[in-house]
Amino acid sequence: MAELAGLRAVVTGGGSGIGLATARLLADRGAAVAVLDIEPGGVDKPLRGYPADVSDDASVRAAVAEAGADLGGIDILVNNAGIGAAGTVEDNQDQEWHRVLDVNVLGIVRTTRAALPLLRASPHASVVNTCSVAATAGLPRRALYSASKGAVLSLTQAMAADHIREGIRVNCVNPGTADTPWVGRLLAAAEDPEAERAALHARQPMGRLVTAEEVAAAIAYLAGPSAASVTGTALAVDGGMAGLRLRAPTT
Ligand SMILES: NC(=O)c1ccc[n+]([C@@H]2O[C@H](COP(=O)([O-])OP(=O)(O)OC[C@H]3O[C@@H](n4cnc5c(N)ncnc54)[C@H](O)[C@@H]3O)[C@@H](O)[C@H]2O)c1
Repeated sequence: MAELAGLRAVVTGGGSGIGLATARLLADRGAAVAVLDIEPGGVDKPLRGYPADVSDDASVRAAVAEAGADLGGIDILVNNAGIGAAGTVEDNQDQEWHRVLDVNVLGIVRTTRAALPLLRASPHASVVNTCSVAATAGLPRRALYSASKGAVLSLTQAMAADHIREGIRVNCVNPGTADTPWVGRLLAAAEDPEAERAALHARQPMGRLVTAEEVAAAIAYLAGPSAASVTGTALAVDGGMAGLRLRAPTT
């Protein structure tokens, strides 16, 4: 039998990139999957799309209630919706800090808060947050984004502690630079997209970007029953970026 057969999953930001790859993989493994996204238009069957903006509490509550009713409950919540921000601490005004933290951190709070009553009713409840290598490594010109993902890492651990006795596991994945439409937009905005792509590849010890499917596989593992004893952890899927210190190549 498929590993996730009978389980019901909600994936935020599931309309693109890592979220879409995750939603498809969870469905391939037998789960019924609802995608919550500001742009759920790219989602096709067997996935079900629900318009939701994680920065708007009423929108999140309505979408979680509708998805939960359609699926008949929620066992798996993947808090993946996120946005980027470039620059040092000097470069973004308060309004931009509020906007990014509102989506990347409070988005997780809102969606989890809305889903908790249904997760409590599940015998296999699991939450997986999409964090980032930016939470554990200092990256240049990513002050705001890194602060948001550092908060996601701490929030993951705190939520894991709060809900362990309710049978709800909470973990996160820390992707390195992943080849998604997000990075496509970053490259398109660069002065020299080819040079920028080469620099991003070179920053990865493996010499290539992570794929959305590789991150999805880690999320599906943490979400599923194989990870029944795993909670409060961060699983890096980063081509070695956070943990390795390589010597410069010798020719
Ligand atoms: N791509 C990378 O290099 C990378 C690396 C580390 C972590 N991440 C994280 O992975 C997650 C997904 O990134 P991706 O690369 O797949 O990006 P993406 O832009 O391809 O997909 C993000 C999705 O989130 C949705 N979204 C954005 N704001 C939303 C909101 N307010 N409410 C609901 N949905 C919203 C978008 O519509 C989109 O479908 C993010 O949390 C990001 O921080 C990405």
